[in-house]
Amino acid sequence: MGMLKDKYGLVTGGASGIGRACAIRIAREGGAVVIADLESSRDKGEDVVKEIRSFGGTATFFCCDVANEADNAALVNEVVSLYGALNFAINNAGIGLYVRLADTDAADFDRVIAINLRGTFLGMKYQIKQMLKNGGGAIVNNSSSAGLRAVNLLGAYSASKHGILGLTKSGALEYANDGIRVNAVCPGAIMTPLMEVQSVEYQKELVSPQAMSRFGQPEEVAAVVTWLCSDESSFVTGVSMPVDGGGDASY
Ligand SMILES: NC(=O)c1ccc[n+]([C@@H]2O[C@H](COP(=O)([O-])OP(=O)(O)OC[C@H]3O[C@@H](n4cnc5c(N)ncnc54)[C@H](O)[C@@H]3O)[C@@H](O)[C@H]2O)c1
Repeated sequence: MGMLKDKYGLVTGGASGIGRACAIRIAREGGAVVIADLESSRDKGEDVVKEIRSFGGTATFFCCDVANEADNAALVNEVVSLYGALNFAINNAGIGLYVRLADTDAADFDRVIAINLRGTFLGMKYQIKQMLKNGGGAIVNNSSSAGLRAVNLLGAYSASKHGILGLTKSGALEYANDGIRVNAVCPGAIMTPLMEVQSVEYQKELVSPQAMSRFGQPEEVAAVVTWLCSDESSFVTGVSMPVDGGGDASY
């Protein structure tokens, strides 16, 4: 415990699933975290804040739509005005879209790109500007197994998640000597509210490429994300790390 003591940062999409688990794990490691999520998720976000404060951790909720540029700037400002620096940032907010490519509405495609890919870009833009001012930091982007390969019915999503890996590598390359590390995690099938709404057949299809024939838990992703945010991973940057029960190994 204490891997993130005296570190300050943010997690987008922190009201639910993997983001929630990241916020809790980071707070348990001594980090102070701003939980950013949509206004419609405020109650769930405030519940995460309460849970963190109940064990003596430091957290606050901030309303932010990652698709909105001004919100991303305001989010970074919030962390700095509360804590004085931005040491870590987890760009986790994302949505799914489950439809074959030719049946995908252009508006739905645009929405997935706006939140998953453009939202990550906008987050990184303001996070990096601040990290340059405060002497460095660590960014972790949440991609997916679908960022490494195609997954049936996830064309738009997969494109957005492949794009996140491009942003991750670009950020890592350009800011490596400024003390800023940028990494991505590529989770396999993780049991979260996003997954719970899928049909049992589709859930089985998503788990089937993994060597481990079970869903991952959000906490198992959070453990890797927390390590990537910490100084324990000080020589690791630009990686796209599968957290997928051996799914990547079977390709
Ligand atoms: N669950 C999985 O199997 C899995 C696998 C690989 C990658 N991922 C990725 O992990 C991330 C988290 O997914 P999850 O499974 O925890 O889902 P989730 O639905 O439980 O949580 C997503 C959170 O993001 C928030 N969000 C959505 N749009 C937003 C926006 N525009 N601005 C701010 N917040 C927004 C939601 O309100 C929600 O709280 C996503 O990027 C997802 O693509 C999930």
